[in-house]
Amino acid sequence: MADRPTSHASTVRSLVLIAVVVVALVSAFAFTAGWLSRGRLTPAMIVNALAPPGGPALGHRRNHAKGICFTGSFESNGAAAALSKAPMFAPGSFLVTGRFNLATADPNAPDATVRVRGLGLRIVAPDGSEWRSAMINAPVFPVATPEAFYALLQASADKSDPDAMKNFAAAHPEFGAFVAWAGSGPWTGSYAQERYNSLNSFIFTNAAGQDQAVRWSFVPAASPEAVSVDQLKERGADFLAADITQRVHSAPQRWTLVVTVANPGDPSADPSKAWPEDRRKVEAGSLVVDAIEPEVDGPCRDLNFDPTVLPSGMRVSDDPFPAARSAAYSVSFDRRTAEDKYYPHHPAGGATP
Ligand code: HEM
Repeated sequence: MADRPTSHASTVRSLVLIAVVVVALVSAFAFTAGWLSRGRLTPAMIVNALAPPGGPALGHRRNHAKGICFTGSFESNGAAAALSKAPMFAPGSFLVTGRFNLATADPNAPDATVRVRGLGLRIVAPDGSEWRSAMINAPVFPVATPEAFYALLQASADKSDPDAMKNFAAAHPEFGAFVAWAGSGPWTGSYAQERYNSLNSFIFTNAAGQDQAVRWSFVPAASPEAVSVDQLKERGADFLAADITQRVHSAPQRWTLVVTVANPGDPSADPSKAWPEDRRKVEAGSLVVDAIEPEVDGPCRDLNFDPTVLPSGMRVSDDPFPAARSAAYSVSFDRRTAEDKYYPHHPAGGATP
């Protein structure tokens, strides 16, 4: 059968349509990858900015690089089931793998030189679902957005401009609350005496489908004892690991999980702003640390404490940090695991760059 003019026109129309679809798809991918928005902050940029002047410590976490593993349990008392249907809020005991750590990119930094201490936790439910969290002892985060965190990293690395930090602080007034804590809050001599705060806000959903914006903290059973930085320096570069190993060897160490519920209007999208002290608090149970293990070849080394790994009954809120953190932690995890040959697997041997 001979071609009719209408069928030729319809072939051209089809080809044009296919071309339009292809261009639209390529543009969508390019947009998602950030190729069309020059200057957009990417996870790789933020991870690169964490590196010290001499380059990153290959094989190690790109932040919170110094740490020690532990295992234990979360003993849930059932009280938080009213807030979230997460399986680990039913009464019972749930397996925990965790990591005490210091907020530094240097795995060999002396303990007394690092102000911020952290806790990485993975709580596993019998159905295999997990709640991962990475918290710090500061009561507020230094900045309000991931972009401001990047700007802070750049300002603190900028040796060419003596006013870089002053200018950063002037442009980010929220930084003041963190600086005040860092300057006047007491230091302690033990990971066991620290309170670890989620700072980021999440949404809990209970079995009735009710949503609540929350933050959480692990509050130590051990009373904090203030120690001066000079005294801490005298305890040696690695006193925190020695201290927690000895304490846990003597007796399990405990923290109470306190969930704080937001009032309507509390700033859930900004971890640099504390919520008022009078907010409703629910004590959900205890973290019990039973055994300390070195990080080298320990159970936490290859764990990524990605704060967006959440069980049902928990989800991220309008806080932009967890998504930004998830993307950055994934870049850090991919790099450090690909650099495995540089990691000092056996303390006596191994290649350290
Ligand atoms: C945009 C902001 C942030 C960036 C880019 C960032 C970046 C990183 C990176 C790259 C790691 C190493 C991840 C790995 O290799 O497994 C890390 C670890 C960690 N971060 Fe963040 N972080 C941010 C915000 C926060 C916040 C808000 C907190 C706490 C409230 C926090 C607490 C921690 C802790 C405790 C660890 C160590 C976890 C572990 O032991 O693996 N970070 N961070």
